[in-house]
Amino acid sequence: MDDNIRSREIKETIDKYPEVGRILDEYGIGCVPCSVGSCFLSEVVGIHNLDPQTEATLMYRIEKAIYPDRDIPEPKVDMTRKPTQKKINYSPAVKNLVEEHVLIKRLLAMIPSITDYVETSAEVDKDLIMGCVDFIRGYADKFHHMKEEDILFKYVDEQGEIIQVMYKDHETGRNHIRQVVEGTESGNKAQIKEHLLGYRELLTQHIKKEDEILYPWIDRQLTDTQVGELFQKCSAADASVGEELPRRYEKFIIDLERKFLKEVSK
Ligand SMILES: [Fe+2]
Ligand SMILES: [Fe+2]
Repeated sequence: MDDNIRSREIKETIDKYPEVGRILDEYGIGCVPCSVGSCFLSEVVGIHNLDPQTEATLMYRIEKAIYPDRDIPEPKVDMTRKPTQKKINYSPAVKNLVEEHVLIKRLLAMIPSITDYVETSAEVDKDLIMGCVDFIRGYADKFHHMKEEDILFKYVDEQGEIIQVMYKDHETGRNHIRQVVEGTESGNKAQIKEHLLGYRELLTQHIKKEDEILYPWIDRQLTDTQVGELFQKCSAADASVGEELPRRYEKFIIDLERKFLKEVSK
């Protein structure tokens, strides 16, 4: 492929050739909604770790979309071969982070029921909302995001666009939660609803990006020594907050599920 295309900012390419955005979308590479968007095409495709056959076809289609008149040799692909579904093998420390996402996702799953409950009750249940805020701040942000920001992301170029997008998501999440607190204090149900749902949407996408793309990409770059070192650093961070903290937050989720999952299944 033309090196010019590979090293062009993806956002700029999509703005000029919207078809490229549609093609990337087809391959599950969501650059169109990417909030920063100054990654190069080669980085964007590289981070997704496609199998060579899929990558060659994707690049061919993109080049064709940009230069429809150019004579580009079609990639030699074996049409009988199905694209390989890669099983992700996370390193031990990263696997723990993926497991922490599971607990966070259990809260995200209940948010629509929680906002419905807030809407239909006479007064805002401040204890309930502030309990969720405490989980988000204490577990999702301090306990989990801090390990990403202070430890994991240090193993790759933090200034790179990919990590910057993650930082931006964390920050957007904090802003949503500030708004939720404000809404709770003033009894503004609409504000609580808007920002809890906004947080849910943001974190759902964010976790998916980390589980499927970012974490495997970071893991692929780690040496064996770094895998061990990362695990030690994350374990030390966990030990510094104590075993009680994750247990307490898990109990909070279980109690919340008793109340809200029952309501959903009614
Ligand atoms: Fe994150
Ligand atoms: Fe995360």
